Amino acid sequence: MKNLKVLGVVGSIRSNHKNIKKLERFILDSSTQTELNQRIKDSKIIFSNSDIAVSHSLLASKNYGSNIEIVSITDIFKHKKLGIYYDLMNYNSIDDIDEIDSLTLDESMFQELLKKVDKADGIILGTPVYFGDRSSIANKFLQLTYKYKVLKGKGFGVVSTGAKRNGGQETANIYSLQEALAQEAIVVGNGPKTAQYGGTVWAGDTGKAIDDSFGLETCYGVGRQVAQLSEILNIGEYKSKPKITFVLTMDTEEKKYEKILQKYIKRNLDSYNSKIYNLIDETIYRCIACNVCPSPKMVEKLKSEDFPYHCVIQTKKDNMKHVQEALVNSDSIIFVGVNSHDDLIYRYQAFMERTRFIRHDDFELSNIPSVGMLISELGATNNQIFNVKVLTSFIRHNTFFLKPVEIILKDGEVIYEDSFRNLIPFIEKITSGREKIDPMEISYKATGYSNKTFDETKKLRK
Ligand SMILES: Cc1cc2nc3c(=O)[nH]c(=O)nc-3n(C[C@H](O)[C@H](O)[C@H](O)COP(=O)(O)O)c2cc1C
Repeated sequence: MKNLKVLGVVGSIRSNHKNIKKLERFILDSSTQTELNQRIKDSKIIFSNSDIAVSHSLLASKNYGSNIEIVSITDIFKHKKLGIYYDLMNYNSIDDIDEIDSLTLDESMFQELLKKVDKADGIILGTPVYFGDRSSIANKFLQLTYKYKVLKGKGFGVVSTGAKRNGGQETANIYSLQEALAQEAIVVGNGPKTAQYGGTVWAGDTGKAIDDSFGLETCYGVGRQVAQLSEILNIGEYKSKPKITFVLTMDTEEKKYEKILQKYIKRNLDSYNSKIYNLIDETIYRCIACNVCPSPKMVEKLKSEDFPYHCVIQTKKDNMKHVQEALVNSDSIIFVGVNSHDDLIYRYQAFMERTRFIRHDDFELSNIPSVGMLISELGATNNQIFNVKVLTSFIRHNTFFLKPVEIILKDGEVIYEDSFRNLIPFIEKITSGREKIDPMEISYKATGYSNKTFDETKKLRK
């Protein structure tokens, strides 16, 4: 593997920027999370919780084989003149209120950071949770990467720490992932076993993050995912004509939106190998929330067969088997939704539920580049956050996520559309890179359930 680099960026005002290089040394000298925590404890240095969260991610990236670096950006974005208490006491002019968000930029330090981000193959952003969102420092970082377009084509993951068990770690992660996607980064979650939206640490007092082993395990997962994606992007080549599957998850009875989608595909993917599955044509039963998923009996029966279908729903009327086959054999999956004034036959949610056995079957969609696509009528409000829902659902399938695509219609006519062509080079590289890496053993482990039948499958996934 080429010398790849994963950069950890800490966006906490409590980050110990003076000692951050010592933390980097602890990461380099440790092999396990326990060892790293011990080094942090023994040093008696108080690190911010975000420092610690990011350090556990970088440990995983290092163990994967990447070079790592951790930077604290606290010193780059300084408060203008809040020296803190005294100046606040003298804050009585209305004009000064503007300065509440006046983080000044240390230009030379920022240029240095920009170079580091530019050279890195993957980025992990660590932030405290502030009101269910990122810190202003972490947010500033993403505003500037947007301005300078430095995240394009890079692997990106995020880790958040909040004082409350459910204080908004996940929302903070999702917002950062969405914004990184808008900057054409390719985003990942924390991968198995939980495959959620990144690192979610529960700690309030400074340095207490080391006690949250579950949270730190999610951070570790992010580091592994970012390093793996960076490798895939690095060794991947431009493979011609990847198989692209569009899953239209809702439509009108007359298939108005399928027709719009067909035209879009013709304009953007003419000679490509693509296919539309319109879910209004499919009979797909709802997930029955059984406690054997994926069915051990089916795992046993079909072990020798080429194609796995491990759901207990066996009726011939149900079309999930062929839809699953299409998904698993796709090089990229585009989930299409509609935000319109029309009455829609809405299949997204029920379909999504039904993909549960695919996830439980050792994350069969692992590392497939996926995309949310919204066809939106101007002024319609019934399905505006579709692309966020696709991100949150399919990150849980351990897929890689690419920038969402939007088509905007006015009175049925396209007035704006994102180009699909921009995504194709990344899809091609991931498709070819996935084939070249050593497969990772993924075994589904149920979290939050006691039923051991959940844990029975064991496969290798690329
Ligand atoms: C302005 C502010 C807002 C906060 N909002 C939240 C919140 O919404 N949810 C939460 O769980 N914790 C919240 N916290 C607590 C911090 O997220 C928590 O102390 C965290 O460990 C800080 O991480 P750090 O040590 O990396 O700075 C807030 C703290 C501050 C200062």
